[in-house]
Amino acid sequence: MITNKNKYLAYFFNKFDYLIRFLYSQLSLNKLFFWKLYSSDFERLDSSFEKVHFFLKSHNFSFQDKTCLELGPGNSYVNAYNFLFNGSNKVVLVDKYPRHIKTKKQKAFFQKEKEFIKTKYNNKEIDFDKIVFISKDLSEVELNEEIDFVYSISVFEHIKNVEENIKKLSSILKKGGFLYHLIDMRDHYNFDNPFLFLKYSKKTWENYLTKKGVSYTNRIRYSEFKEIFEKNGFEIISEQITRYPMPNKIYKAFNKDDKNIDIGIWRVLMMKK
Ligand SMILES: C[S@@+](CC[C@H](N)C(=O)[O-])C[C@H]1O[C@@H](n2cnc3c(N)ncnc32)[C@H](O)[C@@H]1O
Repeated sequence: MITNKNKYLAYFFNKFDYLIRFLYSQLSLNKLFFWKLYSSDFERLDSSFEKVHFFLKSHNFSFQDKTCLELGPGNSYVNAYNFLFNGSNKVVLVDKYPRHIKTKKQKAFFQKEKEFIKTKYNNKEIDFDKIVFISKDLSEVELNEEIDFVYSISVFEHIKNVEENIKKLSSILKKGGFLYHLIDMRDHYNFDNPFLFLKYSKKTWENYLTKKGVSYTNRIRYSEFKEIFEKNGFEIISEQITRYPMPNKIYKAFNKDDKNIDIGIWRVLMMKK
């Protein structure tokens, strides 16, 4: 949201973050703000997909005839298109707070994204019959088929009931199926001060400074995420972690001795055992 480009402004935002977060979440300012803030960037997502695809191929994974599920696609279908054009036979998109194709801006975004993907794949037609969009929490979704591949980009840090979602993923993914997640565990308020939010107690954070909905952020740390995935039968095949400097003060409930507490971004490929 904010960067340290203007150091006086950054000082103000960091000093008064409680007040600003409180007003932002309690007054539902996210409805007023910012189409851009809550809109996906399909070119960035496409470029991430290409990197992940390259990586998946090196692990002998192919999309051919696979059923894929993307958790939290936001307002972008770009990953769904990429799965399909690489051979997938069905894509299930699950987003609890969908934001697509209602307003003029969203329609224009959808159109632009379609043109982008058509250019990428030499004007091939998109088979929309193979895409299913479900606007629910995954833990409440009844699926009649097993999934081969699950994908999510910057979603798990926004999910409130993480354990239920991971448990559900474990029940719908085929044995040997793959899962790729990018989890951004930084404070989304100011990416230049990535662990500022760890100074608050759970009660303060959950009740006053973040709000259920699109902008909700949990503060689950790497070690806890890892433990939940492993407990639910997932094995890490490969991971890339990015660490950031820790602030001096964090709330006592966070484990300062956890040597992985400073992980901000986790890119992980897992397999269902
Ligand atoms: C930061 S956005 C990321 C969107 C997209 N993946 C991207 O990178 O542009 C997080 C997304 O997670 C979705 N989300 C939040 N909680 C969810 C839940 N319990 N189940 C599914 N999606 C959820 C939000 O609606 C939102 O679309």
